[in-house]
Amino acid sequence: MQLERLLHSQGFGSRKECRALIRAGYISIAGTVCDNPNADFDPGSIDGTPGLAFEVDGEPWRFRAKAYLMLHKPSGYECSHKPTFHPSIFRLLPEQLLNRDVQCVGRLDQDTTGLLLMSDDGQFIHQWSSGKKRTPKVYELTLADAVDATVVQQLCEGVQLEDEPAPIAAVACELTSPTSLRLTIAEGKYHQVKRMIGAVGNRVVSLHRSTVGGLALDPDLEPGEWRWLEPADFEALTNFD
Ligand code: URA
Repeated sequence: MQLERLLHSQGFGSRKECRALIRAGYISIAGTVCDNPNADFDPGSIDGTPGLAFEVDGEPWRFRAKAYLMLHKPSGYECSHKPTFHPSIFRLLPEQLLNRDVQCVGRLDQDTTGLLLMSDDGQFIHQWSSGKKRTPKVYELTLADAVDATVVQQLCEGVQLEDEPAPIAAVACELTSPTSLRLTIAEGKYHQVKRMIGAVGNRVVSLHRSTVGGLALDPDLEPGEWRWLEPADFEALTNFD
């Protein structure tokens, strides 16, 4: 792939801007500056796995045909390009990923924290945000009022939400303290966890998503930090019953 096209595909600007970056000597490959926009390189990857290593103005990058990442979503950010009351989570990503049109895989409320997958692969986004796949998602909740085993049983048997034709049941639910629950759901309905808790007469005080499918939020990621998904993460993601 020509260097100019390669850089453009990775979100470093228009073809013209990438050509200018190259000509100005900002790009090195294997420690050597390459100032020829037409130089041909094997990108070394056809999917989300890391391929060719290159540097842009001293910053290391790997070619990725598609972008797949996990973000530790902090509270107070909206999963929207046009947020209403809070900053957009897209502010937390580098410009290169925004240029690649990376989108959220499903949405978390502004006050929810935790694992958010993001990608520029439309098929991946659809596959993992669609309720059809019944991907389990685990949430850690703190509640306004204490709960007991009866509430856990109610959530596992199913609760009726407004505008839903049938009751919705948690895949799993366990008490983690008198006022906290670990709740697993397989759908991705609007405000689902908060509405389920509302249906049992309680209120969510804080909500954190810890896993999607078999993939857990990387404990090394601080709120607001992101990282690329690596092959083991894809395996983990699909690894659920
Ligand atoms: N359920 C909710 O109510 N909010 C979220 O952000 C995610 C699931």
